[in-house]
Amino acid sequence: MSPAIADVAVIGGTGFYSFLDGAETHEVETPYGAPSAPIAVGTVAGRRVAFVPRHGPHHDYAPHSIPYRANLWALRSLGVRQVLAPCAVGGLRDEVAPGDIVVPDQLVDRTYRRVPSYVEGGAVHVPFGDPYCTRLAAAVTGAGAGITHGGTMVVIEGPRFSTRAESRAYAGEGWTLINMTGAPEAALAREMRQCYTPIALVTDMDAGAESGDGVGQEEVFALFKANLERLTGLLAATIAALPDPDGCTCSTWADGIDLTYVIP
Ligand code: ADE
Repeated sequence: MSPAIADVAVIGGTGFYSFLDGAETHEVETPYGAPSAPIAVGTVAGRRVAFVPRHGPHHDYAPHSIPYRANLWALRSLGVRQVLAPCAVGGLRDEVAPGDIVVPDQLVDRTYRRVPSYVEGGAVHVPFGDPYCTRLAAAVTGAGAGITHGGTMVVIEGPRFSTRAESRAYAGEGWTLINMTGAPEAALAREMRQCYTPIALVTDMDAGAESGDGVGQEEVFALFKANLERLTGLLAATIAALPDPDGCTCSTWADGIDLTYVIP
């Protein structure tokens, strides 16, 4: 196997480009088409880090049309085995507030028109009871003050935000966070045998299930922008403290399984 071009990745918003020192770009074609953008690779805390802006360089892709399969495949083809996934989320319950950074530990997938898997046939059933890498989550929470770990993130199809009734129903289920891009990203990373964790920035209180007054895109973008420096600082500190991916169940689940899809 050739040496990795990058072994860690950040999938996030366009604002993260600037945090890679001396980035070079890699145009990667995949069996699933092109990723959201050429992959930028640079150095952070002495590690080779790849970056892909999930929505494209100019916010070209809505959440339901992001090329999720191409993104994870392209990163794996460069050697990436650990993926940090900052994302904007709405808060559903008053235990979180705008500006909080939360590492959820559970996922409910309410998307319905995305291709959710690389598996196209055969008996490949992927363990996903714990959808996120607990070792990466520990690295994130240990890297910054006031980062909470736990809670369920429901991923909706979008691109519209939820109605008040939907928002209330999700909160009533006990779910804490809501987002439009966390699925199938996490499941595809598991299929690629990569460690993956979201790093969720609460930008709004959704449609006001417990408090708040509805949500609009400007509010989400503005809050994300205002917290970009905090997030990039957290990413750099996390990358400096990442565990060795060898032996993690995010990859060993597939030992001995005859996968029907290609891991590059
Ligand atoms: N991303 C940020 N805020 C959101 C919300 N309220 N609903 C869905 N996705 C979001």
